Amino acid sequence: MEKLQVGLIATGGRGVHGFEMHRPEKGVEIVAGCDISQKALDNFKEKFPEAQTFTDYRDLLKIDSIGAVHIATPDYLHEEMAIAALEAGKAVYLEKPMAITIEGCDRILETAYRTGSKLFIGHNMRHFPVVLKMKEIIDSGIIGELQVGWCRHFVCYGGDAYFRDWHSEQRYSNGLLLQKGAHDIDVMHWLMGSYTKSVVGMGMLSVYNRCGRRSPDTPGCAKWDNRQYPPLTQTGFSPIIDVEDHSMVMMQLENGAQMTYMQCHYTPDSERNYTFIGTKGRVDNIGDSGNCEVHVWTQRGPRSTPDIIYKLKPVEGGHGGADTPIIDNFLDFVRFGAKTNTSPIAARQSVAAGVLGHYSMRNGNNRQDVPALRPELVAYFENNQVK
Ligand SMILES: NC(=O)c1ccc[n+]([C@@H]2O[C@H](COP(=O)([O-])OP(=O)(O)OC[C@H]3O[C@@H](n4cnc5c(N)ncnc54)[C@H](O)[C@@H]3O)[C@@H](O)[C@H]2O)c1
Repeated sequence: MEKLQVGLIATGGRGVHGFEMHRPEKGVEIVAGCDISQKALDNFKEKFPEAQTFTDYRDLLKIDSIGAVHIATPDYLHEEMAIAALEAGKAVYLEKPMAITIEGCDRILETAYRTGSKLFIGHNMRHFPVVLKMKEIIDSGIIGELQVGWCRHFVCYGGDAYFRDWHSEQRYSNGLLLQKGAHDIDVMHWLMGSYTKSVVGMGMLSVYNRCGRRSPDTPGCAKWDNRQYPPLTQTGFSPIIDVEDHSMVMMQLENGAQMTYMQCHYTPDSERNYTFIGTKGRVDNIGDSGNCEVHVWTQRGPRSTPDIIYKLKPVEGGHGGADTPIIDNFLDFVRFGAKTNTSPIAARQSVAAGVLGHYSMRNGNNRQDVPALRPELVAYFENNQVK
């Protein structure tokens, strides 16, 4: 079995997820890490004392023996770093969202196509048990032909995680519809079997602009704490906040179905609540990880008495148990050409819906159409990146 050496670009924050790639018993070894934070590098070095460390990712990419990199830097760096890694011949695990512009995504796709370096986007929700259960139900045909998808996304930790650091500025994240919603739009595209053709959006910065700010010379830092509620009591927010704290987008899909996504960052509770309605029934999730349920209605009757209830048990591991399977899937793809649940084309299409939803909400709420991709690109990625 061929050995694989891995480098991590970002060893702090979500970069820690990359630590899971270290599987020496299976021939996969982390040999290098890069971060601009000394604390993140120290933590990495403690776990991987033999590994080399860098503060400039380009130095890590110069190591010829590295076959794959895990990129988990802030969103605005994805395009530059992914392209450089693909050009250097590395297989790339790139965190979502793929990039903060549609053009940026297309440049990444074109580079992967031209170089033949493998590209994989970290849409771990495609490994969430509750998402997989809903997909299985929809694919069984029991609720008929899907026409409608809705997602209500309640984010109680919005003020903890997204208004204190780079996430709060359009130049770094574009906006939170894209930052967070890229996951959900991708899930809905996957389950509804089609991509967004056009999108209309509305959104506002309605609450967090009224909270206390940190001074510009204090570094931004997320601060997770359940006591930070209600929202207007919070302080320490970014000096610049130009992203929305709630947003609503409506999308028409290429197959004629329609969907909507609503996101609010100051709810007391958290859940991604999806509903899919077909010509023969409806499916809904109650909870999105841990002990959660999937309800199915196939006959007329009250909402309180679904026809089928699936009770899902908690699965160990990050993000409802999705974080380990997605690493397995990436490594099997790179080493053995395995099929992937995620798709770079789908990742681009979720960015496109998010970017254009933001554009619409900031420019008169007009309909925006998603630009088409080159058919050769689509065919290449649909063929599991084999020419
Ligand atoms: N799939 C998921 O479930 C999931 C969850 C969380 C975050 N993410 C994604 O991971 C990415 C990072 O998010 P985060 O919340 O960890 O952000 P963060 O700011 O907490 O951490 C980012 C890390 O990147 C490092 N970094 C920043 N600039 C760098 C540079 N030029 N070179 C090397 N390292 C650099 C930082 O020091 C930090 O360690 C984002 O794209 C986000 O969307 C995905």
